Amino acid sequence: MFRLVHRLGVVLVCSWLLLGAGSSLAQEAPQRIGIIGAGNIGAPLARLWVEAGHEVMISSRHPERLQPLADELGERAKVGTPREAAAFGEVILLAVPYAATPQVGRDYATELAGKVLLDAGNPRPGRDGPMAEEAVEMGAGLASQQFLPGVRLVRAFNAIAAYNLRSQAHRQGEKLAIPLAADDQAALEVAARLVTDAGFDPVIVGPLSSAKSFDFNSGVSARMPTARELRELLDL
Ligand SMILES: NC(=O)c1ccc[n+]([C@@H]2O[C@H](COP(=O)([O-])OP(=O)(O)OC[C@H]3O[C@@H](n4cnc5c(N)ncnc54)[C@H](OP(=O)(O)O)[C@@H]3O)[C@@H](O)[C@H]2O)c1
Repeated sequence: MFRLVHRLGVVLVCSWLLLGAGSSLAQEAPQRIGIIGAGNIGAPLARLWVEAGHEVMISSRHPERLQPLADELGERAKVGTPREAAAFGEVILLAVPYAATPQVGRDYATELAGKVLLDAGNPRPGRDGPMAEEAVEMGAGLASQQFLPGVRLVRAFNAIAAYNLRSQAHRQGEKLAIPLAADDQAALEVAARLVTDAGFDPVIVGPLSSAKSFDFNSGVSARMPTARELRELLDL
C-alpha cells in the first residue's frame, strides 16, 4: 500500500513538473542582456533585470569605472566594453546619447546582427546636433533603424524619466506604462517581457513608424501614464 501511494506521488510530481512548472520555467528562462550605455537609464535597468534573474553585461568605454556597480549587483552582472556587451547579449539595451547611435551601428554591426535591440535613445538637437534634428523630423523609430541596420529594433524605455525608472519600478497598484514600437512581432514579445520583469506595464503602440507618437517631444514621458492612461492618450 505504502509503495502504491509513493509511486502515485512520484507520478503526480513528475506530471506537475512536465505540464505546469516545466512550461512556466521555459517561459521564464533568464536572458543574457548586453547593455551599451550604463548611465542614468542603463544602470537602473541592469539592476532591475538582475533582480528579476537575468544576466547582464554593463559596458563602458572605460569598463573599470563600472566594476563597483557590477560588484554590487553580484554574480549575474559582468563588466565589458561596448563591443563585448554587443557580443554577450541575446538582447541588447542601447542607452547612449543619441549622437553615438550611428557609430554603435557601424562599429558593432557584426556583433549586433539579428539581435533584438531595445533602443532608449532620444534625439535631442541641443545635445546631439544636426543629426538629431533630422531624427526628430523623421521620428526616432525610423531614424534609429537607419542607423542600426540588421538589428531587430524595438523602441523601449525612451519615454520614462530615469528617476521614475529608479523609484517607480514594481510599484503597488497600476504600474507606469512603457510604450513599445517595432516592426518585428517576436522582438516586441521579448521587449514586453523585459518591461514586465523590470516592474512596468508594456504597451504595444505599433510599428516603428508609430514610435513618433511617444518620442521625447510628444510629452508622454512627462505625463507618467499608466497603461490605461497611455492607451487613452494615444487612442489605442
Ligand atoms: N536620462 C533620462 O531621464 C532619459 C530618459 C529616457 C531616455 N533617455 C535617453 O537615453 C539615452 C541615455 O541617456 P542617459 O541619461 O542614460 O545618459 P548617460 O547617463 O549620459 O549615459 C550614457 C552612457 O552612454 C555611454 N556612451 C556614450 N557614448 C558612447 C559610445 N560612443 N559608445 C558606447 N557607450 C557610450 C557612456 O558611457 P562611457 O562614457 O562610460 O563609455 C554613458 O554611461 C539618451 O539618448 C537619452 O536621451 C534618457
